[in-house]
Formats: sequence, structure tokens, C-alpha cells
Amino acid sequence: MRKQIVAGNWKMNHDLAETESFLVGLKEQVFPEEVTVMIAPSFTQLHHTYKSLRDHPVTTVAQNMHQAANGAFTGEVSAKMLKSVGINTVIIGHSERRAYFNEDHDTLAEKVNAAIEEDMTIIFCFGEELNDRKSDAHFDVVKKQLEDSLFHISDHSWKQVILAYEPVWAIGTGETASPEQAQEMHAFIRKEIAAAASQKIADEVSILYGGSVKPNNATEIFGKKDVDGGLIGGASLAVDSFMEIVNSF
Ligand code: 13P
Repeated sequence: MRKQIVAGNWKMNHDLAETESFLVGLKEQVFPEEVTVMIAPSFTQLHHTYKSLRDHPVTTVAQNMHQAANGAFTGEVSAKMLKSVGINTVIIGHSERRAYFNEDHDTLAEKVNAAIEEDMTIIFCFGEELNDRKSDAHFDVVKKQLEDSLFHISDHSWKQVILAYEPVWAIGTGETASPEQAQEMHAFIRKEIAAAASQKIADEVSILYGGSVKPNNATEIFGKKDVDGGLIGGASLAVDSFMEIVNSF
């Protein structure tokens, strides 16, 4: 049975006061036992959030990390530093990191290796741009993203991996991939994992969909057989909309 997961990626939103107000609201909620719930605040809010949620079912996740263990990388944060403040899960490869911070396939492979080395769980993001889809290259693009940065890991490391398919054209645009488009891609991804690793690994890894998931479309998307939940941007910023999505399975 694969894990059902809803993870909120706050991106560069919510300062300390806003985070605290979200956490107060979040802790009043009742969580479905079968859903793993995560939130990813900014670096400055990580330790506070982790401490606040320590005895709570919601996991605190980092949005990024540097691939080096330490050194002269001004402004960066390492896996060890994340772990030292209680964070064991990290998002790697978000399309905004790829597009605005020039994170290429090799860098992402190094980040994957560094996180695995530190025993962290990775939420590995990937997805095609609009031009790729229009030119019918979306399957090839996704396959290459996975091959270049993830498929080199050893079989036993797959238990540390959650995948998040996020078509770039659907992020923050209000345009969602249709449930059928999401299912079609998720089934393709699972097939590629079976070929690269094993059928068992492919059957066990959770694949989330991300891109304009909202309370009014989550049930239909999560209802597809190869969609195991969502990575949520805008709708994760308020407790009400986030919880509606958490309860959409
Ligand atoms: P939106 O839900 O705002 O489209 O963002 C999706 C996303 O990028 C999550 O990582």
C-alpha cells in the first residue's frame, strides 16, 4: 500500500507571525490517519515550525538544501544543518529552483546524493514546460529529468524518495493538468521506475501531483490510481483550504 501524502510548499511566503498563526489553526485540526501531511516553510521558520509540531502528525520539510556538507557557500544551508534543527525531509528540484537559480541536472543529482547520504527523505520535483507539452515532448523531458538526476540511486535508497510531478505550465497559473493527463504521466513515470529499478520499487513509491491543486479539484485528481497525493503551493497557505485538500482522498 503506497503512502498518501499532501505536502504544502509555502515557497517564499509566511513570516514568523504568519507561520505562528497558521500553526495555531493547524493544531486545532483532526487529521485523517491514512494521510501523511507535510508543510515546507522558509528556512527562517523551519526550527520554530519543527518545535511547534514535534508532537503532532504534521512533518516539517525544507524547500531546498546545498549539496556540500559545509564550506564557503554564502547564503546556503546544508543537509547536516537541516538535520540539526530536526528536519529530515527536503524538496529537491522544484521548477522554480531550476528556472530562477540555474539548478541543472548535475547539481540536482549531487543534492540527491547529499540528502541520501544524510539519511533524509527527498521530495524530488520534475515536470515539463508548456512548449514541451505542445510539441509532444513531455514524456521524453520527464524521463530525462529522472534519468539525469535520480535514477542512479541504489535500490535501497528508493525508500527515501517521494516523487512530485509538477508540469511547469500548471504551477501558480490556475491551469491544472486534467486528472487524465496526471494519471497518464504518473503511469508513465511508474513504468520508467520499474525499468530503471524494479516493479516492486515502482509499485511502492508515492508520486504526487503538483500544479494548481485546489479544494475543488483535489478529489478528482487524487482519485486517479497512480496519483498518491499532491504538492500544494498557493492553497497550502491557509489552514482551511489546505485541510480541505488533506481530506480529499
Ligand atoms: P501551486 O499549487 O500554487 O500551483 O504551486 C504548485 C507548486 O509549485 C508546489 O510545489
